[in-house]
Amino acid sequence: MSDTEWDRLFGELKAIENTHPELRTMDSPTHRVGAEPASALVKHKHRSRMLSLGNAFDHDELVAWKTRIEKLVSEVSETAFQLELKIDGAAVNLTYQDGLLIMAATRGNGTIGEDITTNARTIPDVPLRLRGSDWPASMEVRGEVYFPLDAFDRLNATREAAGEPRFANPRNSAAGSLRQLDPKITAQRGLRLFAFHIETEGEHSFGTQHEVLDALETWGFCVAPHRQAVDNLDAAKLVIADLEAKLPNLNFGADGVVVKVDDLALHERLGVVGGREPRWAVARKFAPEVAITQLRDIQINVGRTGALNPYAVLEPVEVTGVTVSHATLHNFDLIAAKDIRVGDIVEVTRAGEVIPQILGPLREHRTGDEKPFLAPSHCPVCDTPVEKLDGEVMHYCPNAACEGRVLESLIHFASRGAMDIRTLGEQRVAQLRDAGLVHDVADVYQLTAEQLMELEGFGEKAATQLISAITASKRQPFSLLLFALGIRHVGATVATLLARYFGTMDALMLASEEDIAAVEGVGPTIASAVAHFFSVKSNQRLVERLRDSGLDFDEPVTDSGAQPLAGQSFLVTGTLPNLSRSDVQQRIIDAGGKITSSVSKKTTAIVVGDAPGSKLKRAQALGIETIDESELLRRIDAQS
Ligand code: IVH
Repeated sequence: MSDTEWDRLFGELKAIENTHPELRTMDSPTHRVGAEPASALVKHKHRSRMLSLGNAFDHDELVAWKTRIEKLVSEVSETAFQLELKIDGAAVNLTYQDGLLIMAATRGNGTIGEDITTNARTIPDVPLRLRGSDWPASMEVRGEVYFPLDAFDRLNATREAAGEPRFANPRNSAAGSLRQLDPKITAQRGLRLFAFHIETEGEHSFGTQHEVLDALETWGFCVAPHRQAVDNLDAAKLVIADLEAKLPNLNFGADGVVVKVDDLALHERLGVVGGREPRWAVARKFAPEVAITQLRDIQINVGRTGALNPYAVLEPVEVTGVTVSHATLHNFDLIAAKDIRVGDIVEVTRAGEVIPQILGPLREHRTGDEKPFLAPSHCPVCDTPVEKLDGEVMHYCPNAACEGRVLESLIHFASRGAMDIRTLGEQRVAQLRDAGLVHDVADVYQLTAEQLMELEGFGEKAATQLISAITASKRQPFSLLLFALGIRHVGATVATLLARYFGTMDALMLASEEDIAAVEGVGPTIASAVAHFFSVKSNQRLVERLRDSGLDFDEPVTDSGAQPLAGQSFLVTGTLPNLSRSDVQQRIIDAGGKITSSVSKKTTAIVVGDAPGSKLKRAQALGIETIDESELLRRIDAQS
């Protein structure tokens, strides 16, 4: 029918549905346009686990796979294989009841995904009602939603024209588009679907995988092109090579060929490894595209936590359709291990990753002019001696006030989950830094409205707004300040644990590495990073400047109710009969008490459980009261 005719009928249908909502069926095409935005995606438990696939990276590994499963089920030696392109998109699970789409979900962790039904309805390839009538009454159809490459390029061109950042790759964008809260956005993206698998309640009548694919097509699904059955792996080898050569002509990403035992009766017998990967299928991955170019320089970027991140500056080269001029080198050890030298001819790959990687140098191209890379002994930005902690691969600049870190650390400091300084976003941070107004996070509190008003884009209103947001941030609790400082390994959760346990900045700064490690949920790596942070002179100065600016260095006690243990401190040793270590800590803290990890005269009591440690003896020597779990609970409950 013509577009005009379609539009006319569609308009009529919408009018009918508006006046008679009871006539609006599940499979009405008006559902495709997009319902109202949701506020959050709802979890969905798949009927059976959505499986992933084992990999074979070359033909030998493919043969090894067959040999393995032949040993389990001898009929495999004679069996045929179905070859299907492995679509590089986002897996979805579509539930059909009596031929109607009733639910669509993402893969999630394989067991629990997210309900994306309204979004899936906007994808024209997703049948709302199955064609024909020979479908199983209750069935899940699994497939891959993908972003057609031409649609992806168009979207990026539009985004660029609108001054918005480009999306990194079609796969992530397909997944992101599926998980939009507003189905109208999903609808605009032009997503497509290839179906490849069914799960049914009870028996179905199909004998082979290729019959399933045929059936999916008759029901109205698209099945990926170039599928083919072969009798043996020699034949498979030729087909796979042919498909790999076809890849540049396809309008969708594929990262390999899925080789499946065609006979479904054998699937049952072969089963699934570890509940995750079926034995009856394997992904024969295509070689990642590799480009060859010259490494011009190795530079170092100082990250928010002070990590020195080396990266390669490359002679620009195209890899999988994207021009690459930088690649990560991860860390100094890796550069040494791969013997990567400035001036080397190197292999670069994107291999499904967003960030290009260097595979290694081509030594046969060396002229002798290449320069080995020497890891710097001092921070390239602030010249502080570089540190490397035991057991960590990264090198760090330990100076929290390092200018190399200022941009990223300020953005983090001001962010919503940290000090929450409204209107101080990335652009403004860069502007303040470029104007020389901020060199570290403490400088933020020295800013004045007058200074800001001299900057471009700052009127009086914006300036006073930012200053009052900065002032308000001084009252953020200690836990958020701790997180905002960007101490390595200290995320929001660890910051909360530390703040609750120590109560004040001063207590934490005085704590030894051992004291910190005694906090439940805080391991030795974190403890060492925290103790180290506060041992660095420039960091101590930074903290003092924050204190002078009037920041809150105390953690408010969350429970505003009774505080029967206020002013008391307890040490717990041994296993308590009912409460776990974290439970008992929480109870004491909630009741206003403090936890200590070393016994002193100030300790109110030592709570003793089964198999207590040496601290019990020391407590007894100091004459400190010994109590058990039930006595502790009695004291907590006594007045609350
Ligand atoms: S079969 C249900 N066939 O690859 C049996 N998977 O790495 C397991 N994929 O999660 C999947 N194309 O999302 C199969 N033709 C194809 C596929 C395919 C893409 C995805 C699928 C799976 C992932 C595993």
